[in-house]
Amino acid sequence: MLGKFITIEGGEGAGKSTMLELVADWLKQAGHQVVRTREPGGTELAESLRDILLDKDNVGLSSLTELLLMFAARAQHLAELIRPSLAGGKTVLCDRFTDATWAYQGGGRQLPREEIAALETLVHGDLQPDLTLLLDLPVEQGMRRASNRGESDRFERESLVFFTRVREAYLERALAAPERFAVIDASKEVEEVWSQIERVLQTRVGS
Ligand code: TMP
Repeated sequence: MLGKFITIEGGEGAGKSTMLELVADWLKQAGHQVVRTREPGGTELAESLRDILLDKDNVGLSSLTELLLMFAARAQHLAELIRPSLAGGKTVLCDRFTDATWAYQGGGRQLPREEIAALETLVHGDLQPDLTLLLDLPVEQGMRRASNRGESDRFERESLVFFTRVREAYLERALAAPERFAVIDASKEVEEVWSQIERVLQTRVGS
């Protein structure tokens, strides 16, 4: 039997890392064999592509190159880690997936939908996450939280307008696929955010 594919999404400062930790622990306690991974990245080659994508000095990277590198990293990640893990009955918990491309390259960079859709079909047409937790919060609040971290990467340097489009694109995706998405109010304190997620896991995942 195929394992479950769970993704976590959200804009800057949404608290993904903290929640990923808690979700992984919950899944393990519920008896899942968890493979925790992230995008862009998750394999050695895809992590090298991540370094290029996030490097703040790559100011000349075109939006199309960015899109292609995201999907190149994803193709490798799927081939090397995601598909074999699911085939082995493991639960794959992934920090971002193609919804992030719709949000950042589609919403943020305003690349045409047809281009993203074509690459999505090419790279993983038959595979979508079983559950996507979208950590949603006002853009200003997220940017405030994120600004307390170290040096910003190439994406974190983007503007309020960019991240507003990212948020809108995420919410649009969630609206279009309510059976797959759970929208979590991430503006709250950690305990409250976690209790929303725990309820979703109890009803939608189980052991
Ligand atoms: P992270 O900081 O959450 O690990 O994500 C890395 C950055 O990459 C984040 O700013 C969002 C961005 N990203 C995209 O622009 N498109 C994508 O498809 C993915 C997976 C991430």
